[in-house]
Amino acid sequence: MISKATIDKIFSTIRVEEIIGEYVQLKRAGSNFKGLSPFHEEKTASFVVSPSKQIWKDFSSGKGGTAISFLMEIESFTYPEALRYAAKKYGIEIEEDRRELTEDERQSQTDKELLYKIHDIANDFFQEQLFGTEEGKSIAYAYFKERELRDEIIRKFRLGYAPEQRDAFTEFALEKGYSKEILEKAGLSIFPENTPRGVDRFRERVIFPIHSFSGRVVGFGARILKNNVKTAKYLNSPETEIYHKSQILYGLNQSKQSISKNNLCLLVEGYMDVIALHQAGIENVVSSSGTALTVEQIKLIKRLTENVTILFDGDAAGIKASFRSIDMLLSEAMNIRILLFPDGDDPDSFARKHPQDYVEDFIKNEAKDFIGFKAEILLKEAGNDPVKKAESIRDIVKSVAYVQNALKQEVYLKEVSNKFGLSEQSLFNELNVQKQLQKQQISPQQRQMPQAEAKLQKVPEVTETIDPLFMLEEKLVELMLKYGDRVLDRTDEENNAYQITVIEEIIAHLQEDDYEIQSAINRKIIGEIQKGIADNELRAGQFFMTLLDENISVKVADALVNEHETSDWAKHQIFFSSEEEVVPKIVQDVIFRHKREYVLKIINAMKAQLSENENNDETYLKIIRLNHLRKELDGKLFRIL
Ligand code: UTP
Ligand code: MN
Repeated sequence: MISKATIDKIFSTIRVEEIIGEYVQLKRAGSNFKGLSPFHEEKTASFVVSPSKQIWKDFSSGKGGTAISFLMEIESFTYPEALRYAAKKYGIEIEEDRRELTEDERQSQTDKELLYKIHDIANDFFQEQLFGTEEGKSIAYAYFKERELRDEIIRKFRLGYAPEQRDAFTEFALEKGYSKEILEKAGLSIFPENTPRGVDRFRERVIFPIHSFSGRVVGFGARILKNNVKTAKYLNSPETEIYHKSQILYGLNQSKQSISKNNLCLLVEGYMDVIALHQAGIENVVSSSGTALTVEQIKLIKRLTENVTILFDGDAAGIKASFRSIDMLLSEAMNIRILLFPDGDDPDSFARKHPQDYVEDFIKNEAKDFIGFKAEILLKEAGNDPVKKAESIRDIVKSVAYVQNALKQEVYLKEVSNKFGLSEQSLFNELNVQKQLQKQQISPQQRQMPQAEAKLQKVPEVTETIDPLFMLEEKLVELMLKYGDRVLDRTDEENNAYQITVIEEIIAHLQEDDYEIQSAINRKIIGEIQKGIADNELRAGQFFMTLLDENISVKVADALVNEHETSDWAKHQIFFSSEEEVVPKIVQDVIFRHKREYVLKIINAMKAQLSENENNDETYLKIIRLNHLRKELDGKLFRIL
């Protein structure tokens, strides 16, 4: 641990403009420096460094902070890594502080060292079992040969074998003097109560050691040898102090040089896919090993390249997972291509069937950009149904909205426009709506949890954690705050033109169906607005700033700051339409969506009731009527696009 005194010294010595100057060409602008954002491609400098305040702010991404946080951001350093890097640069000697460690911290420090050690010992043991015992040779080595692995590749990935004997490794380690506690902590042994001896976690399985970025063994994956046994095919190490699944990519250590040399990272599903591609001479490949891709994993790749090609074998579950990975990668500003293997092949089987050149060309030529890929999959599903088709296009535009670079967004939208024969204008409008909706969502980046919690919790699904009805309610309130007094030109069902303000249109919608407003703040804001209408007064953004309610003013400030962000886009002349210009469309769209979600919610509630009641006729009729209404709304939403 770095001592407090050293940290103070680092902060008082380093200069933010010098550190950043190594990454960004800075030009003086008054008392500040300005440059092009290193986090976004841009033409106009929006990255500002203040030497007097020793801070930086990137207006294109909204990020900002100290020199140390800049290093963490740009190098994917942890806090101590960034401190050590800066200290080295300025020749500051690091004083390690062990006295300040609490008893618990000291324990954890030594535990970690022991955990690394025991994993090394275990890996040696498993390798010795594979190559040096009869059982290993006749069962595991034979298995690897059957899968056509050559010796040098078995050695390169340090594969091994855990024998059948229940406590082979546990006994071996205990004899060497390792404690039960550390064996249990490492997840290598289990000591059931009331039994004198421990049991190995991995038995009768081939072993795939999992390495950290820097090459230490931190865990194991273990595969059964027979396909007909009814147990999990792979057994993996549990989370430990040195093994956090969400922060590890299998194969990264063996592949990192090739990834950076090729400026491309191939992403596959399994251990065997990584190994088989290496054996085929394709060495820029990693796997997230059966778990959903995480932001931390993407950051690991990003240290080496911004280009990822996802390779997978195209079963339904895989495709769904890939959609989520695509959006995550896009929002981390990665460039992605996707490759589906034909006829049930996976990278492993494909690489064994064909020569290296063929596989390389196949990956290069057959990988599609995400638009082509999503279009193919979704449109196949949609068939000739126009509503479903519109839904599919929306889905694709949603992914485009995750793209972090406005120029790229424009290029992608052009592609969608060409592909589907839709006007760019309407797609840009849809993109704006999607971006607004995404702002309400928890973005994939924000879903990153503080380090300590990340160990315990899985990253939630993008869509399942947010209640869409609530999201839309938030959006309705935001629209009223930002554009409440804007006058909209509308036509009614008989084609008569009329004018109405945003506030009136939204309030009318909310009153029509007696919506229950979900959040207390929104209830308060809407209540104030309604009072205003009764008094012939339009209460929008500025009105609420003067109300002395902290929660409300934070909300209003957010809404108003966002407004400036949007106009920033216009400054870059990227969009024909800023949010401002598409207000009439957004208001209508959000109202329809809100209505639709509400109808869905009622339908679901009624369906839940059905099973309990005896006489269901009336409820059935209601559900049918509501379903009609929903379809009508779908139709209206389709016409907006
Ligand atoms: P696969 O079933 O495709 O595994 O699962 P594979 O590595 O290609 O294995 P082979 O070809 O059958 O030997 C992909 C990944 O999902 C994880 C593993 O990380 C695997 O590599 N997985 C799969 C599990 O963790 N547990 C399982 O039961 C199955
Ligand atoms: Mn496989």
